[in-house]
Amino acid sequence: MTPAPRTDARTTRLPGSLPVAALGLGSFLPDEVVTNDDLAEKLDTTDEWIRTRTGIHQRHRLAPDDATSDLATRAARAALDDAGMVPGDIAEVLVATTTPDYLVSGVAPIVADNLGIRVPALDVNAACSGFVYGLRQAAGLLATGSGPVLLIGAEAFTRAVDPQDRNVAILFGDGAGAIVLGTDDAGELGPFDLGADGSDPTSLYTPVGGTREPATVDNIDERRNFMTMRGREIYRFAVAHMSASSLAVLASAGLGPDDVDMFVGHQANIRILNAVADKVGIPAERCHTTVHLHGNTSAASIPLALAHARDNDRLAPGDRLLLTAFGAGLTWGSCLLTWGTA
Ligand code: UT7
Repeated sequence: MTPAPRTDARTTRLPGSLPVAALGLGSFLPDEVVTNDDLAEKLDTTDEWIRTRTGIHQRHRLAPDDATSDLATRAARAALDDAGMVPGDIAEVLVATTTPDYLVSGVAPIVADNLGIRVPALDVNAACSGFVYGLRQAAGLLATGSGPVLLIGAEAFTRAVDPQDRNVAILFGDGAGAIVLGTDDAGELGPFDLGADGSDPTSLYTPVGGTREPATVDNIDERRNFMTMRGREIYRFAVAHMSASSLAVLASAGLGPDDVDMFVGHQANIRILNAVADKVGIPAERCHTTVHLHGNTSAASIPLALAHARDNDRLAPGDRLLLTAFGAGLTWGSCLLTWGTA
């Protein structure tokens, strides 16, 4: 397909998109920074192994008394301040997370309460694809007339992985990013390409603690209440699905890689991100990466990367972003977002 010509004044909308703008953006990272060398003091690993296999240099870890909702609330407040809005302006709260405060009872209602509002509030659990799935849910809400939607990606994965398991403990960090989305011609959201293949959730899952295998003294003793994964398999899945999905979004929009100002993939592993960017045809200077600073923060990784880009003057109104993610489920998703602030 021949890409549509790029114009500065975007007077017509892309197929499958909505006039949705980011009214505000905010993030929160816990104070504690854990370096690779810190981990190597307790695990059979090295800074060199972690950097070369993953691109991660450090990650943040939440404070002992904090839970996911605390991170989410701080990011939400920052996004509201950025938007010049008060909590009462928000019509819906969505929290993309796989590491909720409690197994039963969502994070979003707690965040809404922390903000002092009683509005519909629910969690989106699509693991690391959660923020892109959340954008799709927000678009649907806005299309049916909702007022501004507060979408937060928040995770405390350092609590969900076994600190003694070097296969996963080195990968994850904690944090939250939030965006306020509203119907507004200043921005554009879509088209989307989302997918899920639930045929083998065991490739990336927490075996114990759900209804399939409730926690017992024995299975906790075996440390099966922590997340586990088959890394190489997930790596191949991630590269294949994030690149195919990104290309599918560009094809439905009638655009090519040159029409993308910034590519922000789920920050899991720099090798995965480079391979996807290469397959999609986006050069390194138009990719924004934060995996070296934050590690894998799952559903928080894309909004954290967006906030980092904005804070470092790499994100400007009118920029067309290509977002893509993959995660447990297995799930994947991509979309275009034209940055606009009302
Ligand atoms: O958001 C989704 C979350 N999941 C992911 O993003 C996972 C995607 N997968 C990956 O990022 C990569 O597969 C990993 C970073 C997890 C692993 O990299 P790899 O190049 O695929 O390494 P590998 O699994 O093939 O392991 C190579 C070796 C193994 O030793 P042997 O069997 O070759 O002797 C591992 O035991 O590296 C060993 N190893 C480690 N060595 C030092 C595994 N973890 C470590 C470690 N330090 N932390």
